[in-house]
Amino acid sequence: MTDNKSLNNPYLPDLATVQEVIDETANIRTLRVTLDDKEKMAAFNFRPGQVGQISVFGTGESTFVINSPPTRRDYLQFSVMRVGEITQRIHQLNAGDRIGLRAPLGNGFQYEDMKGRDILFIGGGIGMAPLRTLLLHMIDNRADYGDITAIYGARSPKDLCYTYEFEEWKTGGVNLVLTVDSEFPGWKERVGFVPTILSQEAPSPLNRIAIVCGPPIMIKFVLFGLKELGFEDRQIITTLEKRMKCGIGICGRCNVGSKYVCVDGPVFNYEQIKGMCQEL
Ligand SMILES: Cc1cc2nc3c(=O)[nH]c(=O)nc-3n(C[C@H](O)[C@H](O)[C@H](O)COP(=O)(O)OP(=O)(O)OC[C@H]3O[C@@H](n4cnc5c(N)ncnc54)[C@H](O)[C@@H]3O)c2cc1C
Ligand code: FES
Repeated sequence: MTDNKSLNNPYLPDLATVQEVIDETANIRTLRVTLDDKEKMAAFNFRPGQVGQISVFGTGESTFVINSPPTRRDYLQFSVMRVGEITQRIHQLNAGDRIGLRAPLGNGFQYEDMKGRDILFIGGGIGMAPLRTLLLHMIDNRADYGDITAIYGARSPKDLCYTYEFEEWKTGGVNLVLTVDSEFPGWKERVGFVPTILSQEAPSPLNRIAIVCGPPIMIKFVLFGLKELGFEDRQIITTLEKRMKCGIGICGRCNVGSKYVCVDGPVFNYEQIKGMCQEL
């Protein structure tokens, strides 16, 4: 029988099975999946920040970051916000259902260059997904990094993802600063938009890398805040979401300026993309 590998067709997905589904918020679900080929699953290697193209048979294919870290290999985790046809179909999947997966794609975070540095994660809503993979990777290699602070915000407490593992993040050495947009009964953490909390925390740019992901409006004001604090463009890292098709640098669908998000990204430092922001 001919297998995927011998066909050598980069568009052919691997078969995978949904092992577990977690409801994160009203419109975000997390899938934990394993490749059906056990040898491939055991050998599957990736960098934090790399993505996968998930296909729902009969509907289509979409891009999602692998938000589990490479240090934890029992399954690959994807968190999916429901916005349109494919994500709607993904939300209908249950444990035991089959999907197609083309992964890993893209560049991922250059975490080797971050060793010995202080790290500042700044995430909003579903934007915490790409940060989670790197954050857990750093917890699993905690001695390699200095201070790790994560500012994570959402509209309301019910819109925060991964609430069930916040304690693990804290005991893993992360200074976790949670915020929601306005007061909610019983909420004991911070209140205010993420850029406001950033300026209140005012982390020093000295020997620190800031990694930012969230809605475009949040990113815009966070970038402004980081510059005010004295962060240089190269100290600011973000991930770009640009609609993908082939995922392998062939179709030209995902270009931003001279870059293809699918192969040159999705992770960029601000120096690489600041001239292109009007195209995003
Ligand atoms: C590198 C990368 C990583 C991503 N990681 C995640 C992730 O971890 N979790 C997650 O929930 N989503 C992620 N996305 C976005 C996800 O791919 C889209 O939301 C999905 O393709 C929408 O498919 P759909 O058929 O449900 O919606 P569609 O019917 O195609 O679109 C519905 C609406 O969403 C908008 N939209 C579609 N795709 C994008 C996009 N890429 N960026 C911005 N707006 C878009 C459309 O303009 C439209 O308004 C990522 C995208 C990229 C490029
Ligand atoms: S998705 Fe085809 S070139 Fe990037």
